[in-house]
Amino acid sequence: MTVSIAITSGKGGVGKTNCAVNVALSLSKTGKKVVLFDTDFGMANAHILLGRNPEHNAAEFLHGDVQIDKILSDAPENLKFIAGGSGLLEMLNLDNQARYRMLQSLSDLEDQIDYLLVDTPAGASDSTLFFASACDIPVVVLVAEPTSFLDAYSLIKAAHIDKNIHNFSVLVNMADNSASAKRNFDKFFEICRRFLDVNLHYAGMIPLSNAIRRSIVKRAPIVSAQPSSPEARAFQAAAREIIKAPQNEQTGIRFFGS
Ligand SMILES: Nc1ncnc2c1ncn2[C@@H]1O[C@H](COP(=O)(O)OP(=O)(O)OP(=O)(O)O)[C@@H](O)[C@H]1O
Ligand SMILES: [Mg+2]
Repeated sequence: MTVSIAITSGKGGVGKTNCAVNVALSLSKTGKKVVLFDTDFGMANAHILLGRNPEHNAAEFLHGDVQIDKILSDAPENLKFIAGGSGLLEMLNLDNQARYRMLQSLSDLEDQIDYLLVDTPAGASDSTLFFASACDIPVVVLVAEPTSFLDAYSLIKAAHIDKNIHNFSVLVNMADNSASAKRNFDKFFEICRRFLDVNLHYAGMIPLSNAIRRSIVKRAPIVSAQPSSPEARAFQAAAREIIKAPQNEQTGIRFFGS
């Protein structure tokens, strides 16, 4: 059975795309069949972090120009990915029907995918809520700043109230150390639990790191380029935790009809 995982956040720029890329590569390295799908259609950039310039992207599929298999590009570690396409204004306002068509076509590829990783735009937009709630495991990327807490809370509240999602996984990015990351998670869970009937699963932490920043500039994801670095190990540990997170079973539009 394919497991679908959304990497999402309330606040922008917290490291979703970099986490999605490195978690996807970590899973791929274990021999699983993994697809990374960039749904940040307005400003798609997963392909930049992966160091690839794909021939086709999701925009072309949605225009009806190419079939779904053509938009699956090759990335390192046998990872497959679907680039979002960028600068396409009409993509920003994809209607639910177009999103649904995309989801249906990917669901047809179920046999070829063990894990689908979905990188979403920030915030509680229709598109983010659509794709996050279509996944089994929504992962919220959090950084230790009040604005990130507030925006992550708003996203979780919207996903819970509008889409009936109960289980979320939380990955603390740009952390000073493990202890402070866990403390921040506990604090955030406490706030959420006070007002919402949600369950948060701790997926671990990624350190604030110049090596990560440099890997992004070099377009060489750290999990592939420096596999034994502490940063790569943190992504691998997070990937192992994320796939253990409790899955949602709400009804509604879901990837792979689950
Ligand atoms: N662990 C980290 N350590 C240091 N810098 C980081 C780390 N994670 C992310 N960054 C920095 O944050 C920037 C934004 O990362 P990324 O593009 O992954 O964020 P995002 O949440 O996907 O942004 P957007 O909301 O625009 O989609 C990176 O270019 C990098 O400079
Ligand atoms: Mg991004």
